[in-house]
Amino acid sequence: MQLILGIESSCDETGVALVRLPADGSLPQLLAHGLHSQIAMHRAYGGVVPELASRDHIRRVLPLTRQVLEDAGAALPDIDVVAFTRGPGLAGALLVGAGAACALGAALGKPVLGIHHLEGHLLSPFLSSDAPQFPFVALLVSGGHTQLMRVDGVGQYAILGETIDDAAGEAFDKSAKLLGLPYPGGPELARLAQDGNPQAFKLPRPLLHSGDLDFSFAGLKTAVLTQAKKLGGDLAAHKADLAASTQAAIVEVLVKKTLKAVQQTGMQRLVVAGGVGANRLLREQLNQTCIQRGIRVHYPELHLCTDNGAMIAMAAAMRLQSGQQQADCSYAFDVKPR
Ligand code: KG4
Ligand code: ZN
Repeated sequence: MQLILGIESSCDETGVALVRLPADGSLPQLLAHGLHSQIAMHRAYGGVVPELASRDHIRRVLPLTRQVLEDAGAALPDIDVVAFTRGPGLAGALLVGAGAACALGAALGKPVLGIHHLEGHLLSPFLSSDAPQFPFVALLVSGGHTQLMRVDGVGQYAILGETIDDAAGEAFDKSAKLLGLPYPGGPELARLAQDGNPQAFKLPRPLLHSGDLDFSFAGLKTAVLTQAKKLGGDLAAHKADLAASTQAAIVEVLVKKTLKAVQQTGMQRLVVAGGVGANRLLREQLNQTCIQRGIRVHYPELHLCTDNGAMIAMAAAMRLQSGQQQADCSYAFDVKPR
């Protein structure tokens, strides 16, 4: 049995978690996790301010670590491996997590392991009670990435398609900003959309019939801007309709392309991960489509869809368990922002 501490600090959430890696090869278990969101701090600026993010991570990371250990009934010397997010993300923010992880590792004489943020998202559904089994198709939809992947095991990832411009989360966030909604726009737009008519505005479904599995969302944002300008002073009265129409366009493209990927690969399982995976309409439509076709869909638990430390600790545990990677004691903390 090993205890793995995971630290996430790639953007605007400080996440710390402790995962237990059983010696018998069974799935790692989450013992405790803590999260501090910086949303309130960045909201005044309409988006993440990198310098403020780094400073706040520094303030939060050690108290959160202490809290997580206490919640798990563990102490610092019990930690066997310290994992951290190596990238992608904001350079300064990543350096805080990497620095803290390496300092802890060096002080405790324990090895450290850098984890790819997206692998954390990808493997986060293994933390849920309804954990998937390999192989599966994965739809990874976050603020920075939109990818369809074939996943045959830990570290065995083949990209089937991805966005050629904006990510799905970016499309949500930028459209929300155009509608005057506060940061972070995705969940705000989704909330407003509940009161709107998704058919009120005709918005483009970019690359829907492109024949491949790539996405493009940049044109959608421009179409939303054009509609908003056209409405002028009437925008306020039609805001919910425009939000609902935007959400419907993004979700339709995601669902149709995902289904195509599942059909092309002949897979019976689908995993949806990343912040946009929390979107209710996306979940409803994917569930409906997949039930009809006998495809099993797995999601992370709702509170683990967006950034957190549990997914980093879990990805580290699964990598170590699979023999894909080893933690080391070089403490040369490099990060990979891109
Ligand atoms: O995975 P994540 O926390 O961070 C990145 O790695 O990017 O994803 C954040 C993204 C943001 O774009 C946010 O607006 C979006 O996920 N998001 C949502 C919802 N919750 C979060 N988008 C649509 N509907 C939601 N309910
Ligand atoms: Zn993320």
